[in-house]
Amino acid sequence: MQLLDPFEIVLFGGTGDLAMRKLIPALFQRYVAGQFDARAHILAAASSALTREAYIERALEHCREHVGAPDFTEARWTEFAACLDYQQIDAMRVEDFKALKTRIAGRDAQTRVWFLSTSPSLYIATAANMAAAGVVTPNARVVLEKPLGTDRASAARINEQVALSFAENQIYRIDHYLGKEPVQNLLALRFGNAFFEPLWRRGRIRHVQITVAEQLGVEGRAKFYDETGALRDMVQNHMLQLLCILAMEPPASSDADTVRDEKLKVLRALRPIDGDTVDVKTVRGQYKAGNIEGESVPGYADEPGVPAGSQTETFVAIKAEIDNWRWAGVPFYLRTGKRLQQSLAEIAITFDDVPLSIFQNRAQDAPNQLVIRLQPDESITLTILAKAPGDAMRLRPVNLALDLGESFKERPLSAYERLLMDVVKGNLTLFMRRDELDTAWSWIDPIRAGWAQTGNPPKTYTAGSWGPAAATALIGRDGYAWRDET
Ligand code: BG6
Repeated sequence: MQLLDPFEIVLFGGTGDLAMRKLIPALFQRYVAGQFDARAHILAAASSALTREAYIERALEHCREHVGAPDFTEARWTEFAACLDYQQIDAMRVEDFKALKTRIAGRDAQTRVWFLSTSPSLYIATAANMAAAGVVTPNARVVLEKPLGTDRASAARINEQVALSFAENQIYRIDHYLGKEPVQNLLALRFGNAFFEPLWRRGRIRHVQITVAEQLGVEGRAKFYDETGALRDMVQNHMLQLLCILAMEPPASSDADTVRDEKLKVLRALRPIDGDTVDVKTVRGQYKAGNIEGESVPGYADEPGVPAGSQTETFVAIKAEIDNWRWAGVPFYLRTGKRLQQSLAEIAITFDDVPLSIFQNRAQDAPNQLVIRLQPDESITLTILAKAPGDAMRLRPVNLALDLGESFKERPLSAYERLLMDVVKGNLTLFMRRDELDTAWSWIDPIRAGWAQTGNPPKTYTAGSWGPAAATALIGRDGYAWRDET
């Protein structure tokens, strides 16, 4: 394990949900893994008036819960807590930033990471006050959590403000899906092995499905979620990033800009969905009351904090098309939603069928399928046809399955462990560049405009189902079905 150069992380939003559930536990695990130099320092900053001790106590409870045995021990926590500190800050007050500057001055030579994990509505004020107080040292980096803006124009405003203090190569726009182990494995599968590449194209692949389904509802985030919706919460970032990794050309190296250039080309080649095509190529849904694993759950409209008559979508299905030589004519079906039947994230690639079947007992339409499962288990499965035992030549689908959890003894890193350490090391490969973000918004904005123009409410679906019937029809019109509906 590589010991990192001394670093400091200033964590805005240090008492927030993300910091408590993901960031502090991830940092603790990297500490336990031996990556922290003795001078490593984490300064959590938030609006609450807390002492350092009170903050550490709060963080301890979350870490105990989210790290768990065997990695969590009180003894290791006590060591780790020695590098943890807290400062109260009001994002709107430049004086608070000046005080912060004085407080951290002794460590200016270290790599300093400014992590913005506050409400995105505070990004502009935070970035402006950082610039006004002159807190940014030459070796500083800034991490911006999604959602970055609510549309292309607001994302541009945030980027411009942040650019006043940081050069583009100091800005880490995080999308935690890119830090997930199976997403890394998708890169390994595509670019570490020779045999898929000749098949990775039109004429070999019939269609691709990307599903990110959650059983969870809005979980106390109703205000944020209602202003955001599934398209901006999941598609604009996580799902488009998965699409890029899946569809990009082989980059010439793993160098950050080389990889990001290839992802950008995919985003630029996405066929626009606007005007009349919005109704044909997208479905938006909202859940009504239902059952998840035997328990009744309320509909979205009855969730605490959701405004009456909300038209926010909790489900989206999209038929995306990539207009380039590799992918012309291959539909990419994207689907994501809350309160669906299962919590599941997977990519399913359906290959073309054989041109002519010589076996009488072969199912008529039984193409090979490659399924990359990201959640809940991490696996890669290739469905092939094999002869079933017996005297007749009967072909049946069987799985060549690789369970990544079982194949490796090592504990996989959580997405935030990997990404935080990448920031400290200065590796930008898994972070979005400004032009990528801008292009992703350019594809998303017309879809929202189209929805607003038609004025149709989202289609309802019962919690615990796989989404509205219209999503089945969307893919059905092309003669296909979602994998769980076959
Ligand atoms: C977040 C979204 O970015 O990703 C959440 O804001 C969603 O709404 C979450 O639940 C899903 O992440 P994961 O890692 O649990 O699949």
